[in-house]
Amino acid sequence: MWRDKNVILGITGGIAAYKSVGVARRLVEAGATVQVVMTAAATEFITPLTFAAVTGRRVRTTLFTASDEPIFHISATDNTDIIIVAPASADFIARMVAGLADDALAAIVLAAACPVLLAPAMNTRMWQNQATQDNILVVKERGIRTVGPAVGALAEGFGEGRMAEEADIVDAAEAMVKGKQTLKNKRVIITAGGTQEKIDIVRYLGNRSSGKMGYALATAAAARGAKVTLISAPTGLSRPADVEFVPVVSAEEMRAAVVKRYPKADIVVMAAAVADLRAADAAIGKIKKAQLGMLKLEPTPDILAELGAKKKSQWLIGFSAESSDLIRNAQGKLEQKKIDVIVANDISRNDIGLGSDFNQATILTADGKVNDTPRMSKQALAALIFDEYTPKA
Ligand code: CTP
Repeated sequence: MWRDKNVILGITGGIAAYKSVGVARRLVEAGATVQVVMTAAATEFITPLTFAAVTGRRVRTTLFTASDEPIFHISATDNTDIIIVAPASADFIARMVAGLADDALAAIVLAAACPVLLAPAMNTRMWQNQATQDNILVVKERGIRTVGPAVGALAEGFGEGRMAEEADIVDAAEAMVKGKQTLKNKRVIITAGGTQEKIDIVRYLGNRSSGKMGYALATAAAARGAKVTLISAPTGLSRPADVEFVPVVSAEEMRAAVVKRYPKADIVVMAAAVADLRAADAAIGKIKKAQLGMLKLEPTPDILAELGAKKKSQWLIGFSAESSDLIRNAQGKLEQKKIDVIVANDISRNDIGLGSDFNQATILTADGKVNDTPRMSKQALAALIFDEYTPKA
């Protein structure tokens, strides 16, 4: 996997820097080209010569290049598949949050056009300090991944803050680099938007779903090589590239479009907010106000429950919009609808969910895992769902 891959391995100041020699060695042995970039503090712990010997390349420690060389922090990131910062010190993470570019590594990370993985390592109190915890949330929100830190032996004793093991760092990086093609040729169906159930010629029953989460999922799946069908209720969004786009309006139309493609699907993600009720008999013309109170409603089909009941090898991911008892309700839906993963949102918060560009989810799996994500962009959450909550090829 690592053949022909270009890695920038950033080393910041911390005692765990010596363990990064092992990370560099594993990557080089696996066939990657590894360019090491060290902060000044890192060179206090270990010499650039050590990394140069392991990687066979000159280590960069300064931002400035000779006038006849390309601008290093820009050219270095042009063909890079991943930047790994291990160890990532509290200070370096804080500088990233501020967008500083005051040394070679910070400038490279700021200029990065590729995925970035941090392996934080520091003293337990520094890790647990609210400033560091806040900074970690911010970088994650921006789509940067982290691995570790673990609980274990530290320079000053025992605690949380120990850098993740070399193999775990390389594994996490591998998943991110492979991320692009992990769904190669898989057939992925994604539903999005809020369905509209006709009452009469002018009125409908609907909801406030924007479709942003479903569209982000469609883009993320296509980027990973999947053959994506996006079945979308009306939204104000432009249709993503590289997907088969199926516009629908009602729950029944959405059901028909999903069910037809279901036998050949590998993964179905029901991100749509399907209206729960529809008019028992939609009127031809416009219903008079006085008669509206007599409107008879009936439930729409539960698409996800039907998919769960017919499930063969398909992987089913549902969403769960809750304003109370998030975990208990989501767990109930996971079991009743017989699905593999449910992504639960607290829609009573107005900084995430409906209409927002951000989301914060609690993700429950059929094998009993319950994980909270930080608040992050819907794109970052979509990537996380495909990278961590779909079966590995
Ligand atoms: N869903 C569906 N068909 C419906 C209703 C919901 O396929 N008629 C799917 C949604 O796309 C979502 C999941 O089921 O993936 C849960 O939807 P949600 O609205 O949270 O829950 P409901 O099942 O409608 O239950 P409730 O409204 O009571 O929370």
